[in-house]
Amino acid sequence: MTCANFCRIPLKPGKWISELPVCASVSDGRLRTVSTHTERLPAAVLVEAAEAAGRAPSIHNTQPWRWHVSGDTMDLHVDRTRTLPITDPDDRMLLISCGTALHHARAALAAQGYADVVELLPDPEERDHLARLTLNDPIPVTPEAMRLVQAMDRRHTDRRPTSETPPTRDQIEALRQAATGQGVDLHKFTADQLTDLVVAVSRAEDIAAGDEALRAETAYWRGPDRPPGTGLPADVIPGSRPQTDVGERDFGGPGTLEVGEEHDKHAAFVVLFSAGDDPLAWLNAGQALSAVWLTATDLGLAVLPFSQVVEIDATRALMRQMLAGLGYAHIVLRIGVADPDSANPGRTPRLPATQTITVA
Ligand SMILES: Cc1cc2nc3c(=O)[nH]c(=O)nc-3n(C[C@H](O)[C@H](O)[C@H](O)COP(=O)(O)O)c2cc1C
Repeated sequence: MTCANFCRIPLKPGKWISELPVCASVSDGRLRTVSTHTERLPAAVLVEAAEAAGRAPSIHNTQPWRWHVSGDTMDLHVDRTRTLPITDPDDRMLLISCGTALHHARAALAAQGYADVVELLPDPEERDHLARLTLNDPIPVTPEAMRLVQAMDRRHTDRRPTSETPPTRDQIEALRQAATGQGVDLHKFTADQLTDLVVAVSRAEDIAAGDEALRAETAYWRGPDRPPGTGLPADVIPGSRPQTDVGERDFGGPGTLEVGEEHDKHAAFVVLFSAGDDPLAWLNAGQALSAVWLTATDLGLAVLPFSQVVEIDATRALMRQMLAGLGYAHIVLRIGVADPDSANPGRTPRLPATQTITVA
């Protein structure tokens, strides 16, 4: 492994991996280096990966994860201070969110030339201990690994309508392969099934609108009392209802994101599903969501998750029927080409690494 493998990978705007903080001391809310990249400690490499994982998507941008780095291992835990007990009482969206962070960390390691060994749910006595990742031998850095890590910084949720250019068959196939690489399947809804999807999403939205506690929980993650560095700022939420058949989640009022006159009828709607419906399956669904989203970003495709339809039991059962009982639906995604003429949504904030990473 030469220095060039590390130095050529932009991980954050204006920063290079070799300049990133790598070890245990803390200042200005960041973890500071005690080693150089030519004599990198395993813990330094893992801290970098955990930092990169901070950009992962999560339900309502709750970032419900916590990393603990010790020597050449890194443990992923749930942070119960940032969960959604009303929206997500079974922790499905929570574990999918933590799965996206785990995949982001692994993708960052692969782009630094490290293999890893991951044990999911390593402690049956502690259900919030989600994964133990151990650094393994150096591996060659592949162009694919580089593209995925570069996509991390560009990836975002796009709630604007999509343009008239539909995703190609090859692009959808690339997304399917990204999902199956994580043991999860991807199904693209047929034109006939879209009518049922529209009905199911609208039903989920109606049920949510009638649940005062659920509406209050959603509003909290948009409001001024949410923890700093989390939640949804106004400029990622449309200022007016976009033209769409599959209705977007109502976050309790308009934001400031400008939306054009387009209609998302050229977008593809897909569902990630697998045979399992337990914490292991949800973590893997999260890893697949991250792999699909980073691949889509690399291909220039915009992604919008629709999770309300799988959060609510009645409509989740409809999704299972639509899959002909082949598996459990974990999340529905709209995949499209973003309107090239309008400005991108703003950036959602992130917690400082000092709040999500500890080092032994
Ligand atoms: C499990 C999961 C479920 C999500 N569900 C929705 C949803 O139903 N509607 C929506 O607009 N965004 C949804 N999102 C997107 C998040 O709001 C978004 O990832 C988060 O705010 C961070 O913003 P970013 O993706 O732009 O980085 C979901 C994300 C995840 C990981």
